[in-house]
Amino acid sequence: MEIGSLMQVLHQLPESDDPNLILGPHTSDDAGVYRIDEGRAMVVTVDFFPPIVDDPYLFGQIATANALSDVYAMGAVPLVATTIVCFPQELPVVVLSEILRGSCQKLKEAGAVIGGGHTINDKEIKYGLSVTGIVDPRRMITSSGAKPGDTLILTKPIGAGVVTTALRAGRISTEDAADTLDSMKTLNDVASRIMVEAGVNACTDVTGFGLLGHLYEMAVASGVAAIIEADNVAFFNHAATLVRKRRNRPASIQTNRKFLTPHVRFSEAVDEPTELLLHDPQTSGGLLLSVGEDRKERLLEGLHTEGIEARPVGIVVEKREGWTIEVR
Ligand code: CO
Ligand code: CO
Ligand code: CO
Repeated sequence: MEIGSLMQVLHQLPESDDPNLILGPHTSDDAGVYRIDEGRAMVVTVDFFPPIVDDPYLFGQIATANALSDVYAMGAVPLVATTIVCFPQELPVVVLSEILRGSCQKLKEAGAVIGGGHTINDKEIKYGLSVTGIVDPRRMITSSGAKPGDTLILTKPIGAGVVTTALRAGRISTEDAADTLDSMKTLNDVASRIMVEAGVNACTDVTGFGLLGHLYEMAVASGVAAIIEADNVAFFNHAATLVRKRRNRPASIQTNRKFLTPHVRFSEAVDEPTELLLHDPQTSGGLLLSVGEDRKERLLEGLHTEGIEARPVGIVVEKREGWTIEVR
C-alpha cells in the first residue's frame, strides 16, 4: 500500500476523547502514547513482515531491531514485547526456533522481555512484535517539533531495500551485503539515549517510506520545509550500483516516489540513482533527528563517540509555497 492511501485509512479510525491518549493514530508519530500519570506514559507499537533475509536467526534479529525502533524514536525505553508469528505448518519448526532465538537475543540486548505472543498457520512466514515502552511524557520526542534553523542528522546509511532485494535474488553475496545486514540488526537504543541527553526538537525512524517520505511526514507535522544535501547522505556499499538495475528496486521505491513527486523538488545536480535511493524503503533504518544549532555539536560528538556514523544531511527552513522538500 502506498503512503497516501495508508494515511487515509488510518485517519478513518474514530477520534478518541480519552485525554490520556497523548498520541494516537491521527498523528504521523512512530508509536501511540498513553499517559499513566504525570511522569509516565506507555509507548505502544507493532510491526511484522515477511523475511527480508534467508537466515532465520538474522531475520529474527532484524525484525526485532525494527519493531523496537519506533519506541526508540520517541525517546522511550522498551519494557515488554509480544511476538506475532505467521508460520506454514509444512516448514521445519527449527526455522521458527531460529527466528525466536535471534529475536530474544535482540530483546535481551535492549533490556526488554517477552510477555507472550500469538502464532497462526499461514502460507508465508511473517514475524514481528508488539512492543510497549515507557517515557516521561514531558520529555518524549515527537516528529512534530522541527524548527527552521535546525540541522537534520541521520544515524544510519540508506539503501537497505535495494541491497536486500538483490541479496534475496542471489545477485550479490552475503559478504557484499555485510554492512547493510549489520546495520539492520543494530538497535537504535544508543542513538536514542544520546538524542535524549543532547536534546533534539524532533525525531522519527526511517522505514518503509524512505528517507524523503519520513522527512516529509516530519516536515508537514512540524509546519516547516526541509533541504537535503544529497552528497551528505551515506549509502550502503553497492546500493548506488545496484539501484541502476530496475530488477533490484523494491516496488515501493516507485510508489514512494509517485506520492512525493508534488512535494519534492530535485536540483539538476542530483542523479537518478541518488533520487531513487532517497525513496528506497528501509527496514530497521536509522533515526532522523532535527536538532537546534546550540545542541548540534554535542549531539554529533555523542553519536560519534559511541561509534555511530551519524551525518548532517540537511536543514530545516520556513514553510514554502510549492514544495516541502528540496534536494540539491
Ligand atoms: Co517509525
Ligand atoms: Co512502525
Ligand atoms: Co492468542
